[in-house]
Amino acid sequence: MVRINILTLFPEMFSALNCSVIKKALEKKLFEINVVDIRDFSNDVHKKCDDYPYGGGAGMVMMAQPIVDAFKSLNLTSPKVIFTSPRGKLFNQSMAKEFAKNEDIVILCGHYEGVDQRVIEILGAEEISIGDYILTGGELPAMVIIDALARNIEGVINNQSLEEESFSTGLLEYPQFTRPEIFENKAVPNVLLSGNHKDIQSWRFDKALEITKRNRKDLFVQYCKNNYRLIDAKSKDFERLVSYKKNNVFDYANDANDKEVKKIKENIKSYKIIAIKDKKIGFVCIKKIDDGILLDEMYIDEDYRNNKIGTDIIENLVKENKIVYLWVCKNNLKAIKLYKNLGFEIVEENSSKYKMKYTRKDKK
Ligand SMILES: C[S@@+](CC[C@H](N)C(=O)[O-])C[C@H]1O[C@@H](n2cnc3c(N)ncnc32)[C@H](O)[C@@H]1O
Repeated sequence: MVRINILTLFPEMFSALNCSVIKKALEKKLFEINVVDIRDFSNDVHKKCDDYPYGGGAGMVMMAQPIVDAFKSLNLTSPKVIFTSPRGKLFNQSMAKEFAKNEDIVILCGHYEGVDQRVIEILGAEEISIGDYILTGGELPAMVIIDALARNIEGVINNQSLEEESFSTGLLEYPQFTRPEIFENKAVPNVLLSGNHKDIQSWRFDKALEITKRNRKDLFVQYCKNNYRLIDAKSKDFERLVSYKKNNVFDYANDANDKEVKKIKENIKSYKIIAIKDKKIGFVCIKKIDDGILLDEMYIDEDYRNNKIGTDIIENLVKENKIVYLWVCKNNLKAIKLYKNLGFEIVEENSSKYKMKYTRKDKK
């Protein structure tokens, strides 16, 4: 069983954990919390636990002796020790999962200006921050960490809830609704009432992508890069490929429609659809030519551009092939720079594009 020991100067604050899901989990003995008052271990007659900082400066520092004695009183052999600190690594969901795997956890809550540095070394503590702001003490961060890690202890939350929550999938969660169907003239989206599981899943996935892109571009870029895949194009994709090009390819002539369909049909084996799960977001056309391969076309929907998918596709091509060619617009200076960095050089040009070639240099 996970046992969390909290070293604090303000034990009364932890009564806030005695509510809701955490209270039930404690009652069911799914994990245990042991709050230790550091002040009880002070050797000072007035139970003083803080002193002025060496070297001067504002505020007080928590002294080493009461903390180290409080820690030793726990008599633990190899606990996971956390010191809540704005200097620490930023706490996240995967840390919450990792921490929950430990049997004995000790969380030291700082106060005032922090703790004597020697305590951190003696306890072998990992410094963990809950965000880029300064709080009065480590008690609230400790409760944040305990709440998040407790959710990952077997039996505290049902597993399906955990799987669908923000961060577990790499995306933020889709919007949720409950009864009534209409509230202040706002209706629940129809699809959620349809009973069609596939449509509901697809709507939720779209919304999760949209919200993640809007609020956490960093997570969105990572998700796209980790989850895109290339699927062989099928004849049912002809129209889609043509309309992609019609709407988006800069030098596409409207009257070229038939010619394009014919070209795609003839070369369908060279086309691959770029997809994230079942969502089609673009295509590539990769052909074998004399001495290597040619990335003849690459199109990515506007919403998914600049997410490293294109770069990743090209990086994989140069990893897998000794010689790679591609065409790039002369005015796309950013792409030209990127390709040059990957080792491409210009070998040919027409009025609007450069042809670039990558040749893998064999190691001597
Ligand atoms: C006022 S803060 C001390 C800040 C410290 N002087 C500094 O600049 O890094 C007092 C205590 O609150 C806790 N604390 C404050 N902000 C925190 C955060 N963002 N994450 C984790 N702990 C925090 C730490 O335990 C810290 O020792």
